[in-house]
Amino acid sequence: MTHRIAVIPGDGIGPEVAQAGVRVLERLGLPLQFEWFDFGAERFLRDGTVLPTDFMDALRRDYAAIYFGAVGDPRVPGNEHAKGILLAMRFDLDLYINLRPCLLLDDRLSPLKGKGRAELRFTVFRENTEGLYAGIGGVFKKGTPDEVAQEVEVNTRKGVERICQAAFAFAESRGLRRVCMADKANVLVFGHGLWRRVFAEVAARHPGIEAKAMYVDALAMDLIRQPELYEVIVTNNMFGDILTDLGAVLTGGLGVAASGNIHPGRVSLFEPVHGSAPDIAGQGKANPIAMVLSGALMLEHLGFAREAQIVQNAVRDQIEHGAHTPDLVPLLGGTAATTGQVTAELLTRVEKFLR
Ligand SMILES: NC(=O)c1ccc[n+]([C@@H]2O[C@H](COP(=O)([O-])OP(=O)(O)OC[C@H]3O[C@@H](n4cnc5c(N)ncnc54)[C@H](O)[C@@H]3O)[C@@H](O)[C@H]2O)c1
Repeated sequence: MTHRIAVIPGDGIGPEVAQAGVRVLERLGLPLQFEWFDFGAERFLRDGTVLPTDFMDALRRDYAAIYFGAVGDPRVPGNEHAKGILLAMRFDLDLYINLRPCLLLDDRLSPLKGKGRAELRFTVFRENTEGLYAGIGGVFKKGTPDEVAQEVEVNTRKGVERICQAAFAFAESRGLRRVCMADKANVLVFGHGLWRRVFAEVAARHPGIEAKAMYVDALAMDLIRQPELYEVIVTNNMFGDILTDLGAVLTGGLGVAASGNIHPGRVSLFEPVHGSAPDIAGQGKANPIAMVLSGALMLEHLGFAREAQIVQNAVRDQIEHGAHTPDLVPLLGGTAATTGQVTAELLTRVEKFLR
């Protein structure tokens, strides 16, 4: 069976890293059919298209996954096209798991003294469809000295339950022993009180796993002090957004941080954590590794575990022995290579590990 993959490269460095990622995935010789779509700022500015409704239906019906670059363009005020593309897919396709592995690939990428690959290996499960990002709120007396602005945090029992369940299931499937839930239940007593209760209920169904609830501020400190205590972290939309940027910088930066937006068993979206990086777009400076590792997450989702491992091995080998884009030079040394050079070396390494 051929899996149809919708590739949306998007804006800025999106097309550069998407080209690299697809080339690596094609080299594996799997039954994957990549179909390219031009949704992004250029198309939006040309004819006003964001994401057609029939495209969303086609994604649900005909595609196994979406391989996404990045969106964001200084020519579009407020990035309204980006909301209509990426946030729309996350919400409309109900991609409730934002999976972000924070796994150190090489000790030299760690900014923490004495903490290397053995210590930095946690995975974050961020709730991706509710919380403070639900877009519920409003302003009153706008622009006056009496202005009031409200943003409502949405926490549903169903939403909390399914993300906690996904985190425990992931831990079990990987032979991991610890799941930590991050909240602010001491202050946000209603919404995060629900998180505490539901997390305890889900934990009781997984007695083999050590479950711990922590305040997010304490966890942020602890991830710097003793990251080795954490294997799986589950949290809400906003705290997950912040903790995963922390996780990215602890493991080599945005150039290597991958993510999946997942609804198990349904079409899901895989993308690098970084944005469209307009400051380096078109200069051959973009690190393709985050996109390539997002491709590995997509392979796992599609059931190609062996090939996902091959891609991860090729990336690790590249970081240890190969050329690097400029973002990694301060950490790894050497002289800067281009996106194209790093991609070419990655392709050779994929072939080596395929044999
Ligand atoms: N998922 C997404 O599509 C997404 C995510 C974040 C930001 N954005 C959008 O992207 C645009 C730029 O945002 P930003 O500058 O805050 O974040 P960014 O992630 O695009 O860039 C932050 C910094 O990291 C560097 N960087 C990012 N990816 C890199 C890579 N692969 N290789 C080397 N260096 C890399 C950039 O050069 C920049 O200095 C904005 O319009 C923003 O809204 C989109």
